[in-house]
Amino acid sequence: MAGKDGCSGGRDGASAGRAFGRKGAASMDVHGDLVEQTHFVQGFVRLCADGWQQGWHERNGGNLSYLMTQPESAFVRSRVCETSRDWVALEARVPALAGACLLVTGAGCYMRNIPEAPAANIGIVEIGEGGGAYRVIWGLASGAHPTSELPSHLMNHAVRERATGGASRVLYHAHPRSVVAMTFVVPLTARAFSRALWKAMTECAMVFPSGVGVVPWMVPGGEAIARETSRLMEVYDAVVWAHHGLFAAGESFDATFGLMHTIEKAADIYCRARCMNGGADDFLNAISDEGLRQIGQAYGVCLNEEFLEA
Ligand code: 13P
Ligand code: ZN
Repeated sequence: MAGKDGCSGGRDGASAGRAFGRKGAASMDVHGDLVEQTHFVQGFVRLCADGWQQGWHERNGGNLSYLMTQPESAFVRSRVCETSRDWVALEARVPALAGACLLVTGAGCYMRNIPEAPAANIGIVEIGEGGGAYRVIWGLASGAHPTSELPSHLMNHAVRERATGGASRVLYHAHPRSVVAMTFVVPLTARAFSRALWKAMTECAMVFPSGVGVVPWMVPGGEAIARETSRLMEVYDAVVWAHHGLFAAGESFDATFGLMHTIEKAADIYCRARCMNGGADDFLNAISDEGLRQIGQAYGVCLNEEFLEA
C-alpha cells in the first residue's frame, strides 16, 4: 500500500527534523533511549533489518508487531510520562487484548529505515479498556500511524495467543517473491500449498507440520482480510495472502523470522524445480507421502493428516 504517513528515513535529507523527542513527537518520553535499548525493541529492529536484507520489503511493503509481556509494558509505561496522541477507535474490537501494549511498524514506513530511525518508524500502542480503541504511547514520531494491517495484527494476536496458551507474541507480514509467485500457479487451497511446500524441502514438515493456510486475493489493510486470516490462524501459524505475501506467527523473533525464511526458501526451490521441469509439477523425484509421515514419526511432530494421501 502506498505510504502517506509521517514516518521517516534515516540519512535521507527528507527526514531532517523528524527526530524522536522533538515537537510533534508521539509522546513525552523521559528516557526515550532506554525504550530503544530494550531487548524486545532491539530484536524487533533486527528482524526488520533482516527482512529488508532478504528483499521482502520493497518500499513500505510488510509490517511487524510484537505483543509485549506485562513487565515490558510496565517498564515502558514507567518511562513514558504523557502522550499527546488521542485514542483511536478500532474497526473491530479485540477484547482479548484489552490493556495490552504492542510494538508495531508504522503505516507507510519503510523497513529499510527502521534501524537508523526506530522511533520515527515504529511505535508502541496500548489497547484501551474493552479492546475497542488504541493510542500511541511511544514512537511513531511526527504523527505516523500504526500499520494499515493493524486489524490483522490485533485479531491474529488474539487468536494465536489463545491457540498457543499465551506463547505466541510475534506477527510478521512480508512480501517474499517466491511465495507470491506460487499463488499464480498452485491452487489456492491450504492442502495444495502445504503439500507443495512440505515436498519442496525436507525441513518443512518439521518447521510447519500443521501446514499453511491460504487466503484468496483480497483488498489489503482492513477488517475483511483480518477476519479471513484469523479464521485460518486458529489452525495454522502461517497464512499465504494470494498475489500479496505471507503472514506468519511465532513465539519469538527468531522463530517467526525462521518460519518466514523456511517457507520462502521452500517456495523458491519449488519455483525453480517447476521452471527446470518445463513449468509442470509432475517431478521425476519427489518426497513421498510416506516419507513425510516418517519425518513426523522421527521428529515427534504431528503432520496434518488431512493433507496426506493414504
Ligand atoms: P503498511 O505500510 O500500512 O504497513 O502496509 C504495507 C503492507 O504490506 C500492506 O499489506
Ligand atoms: Zn502487504
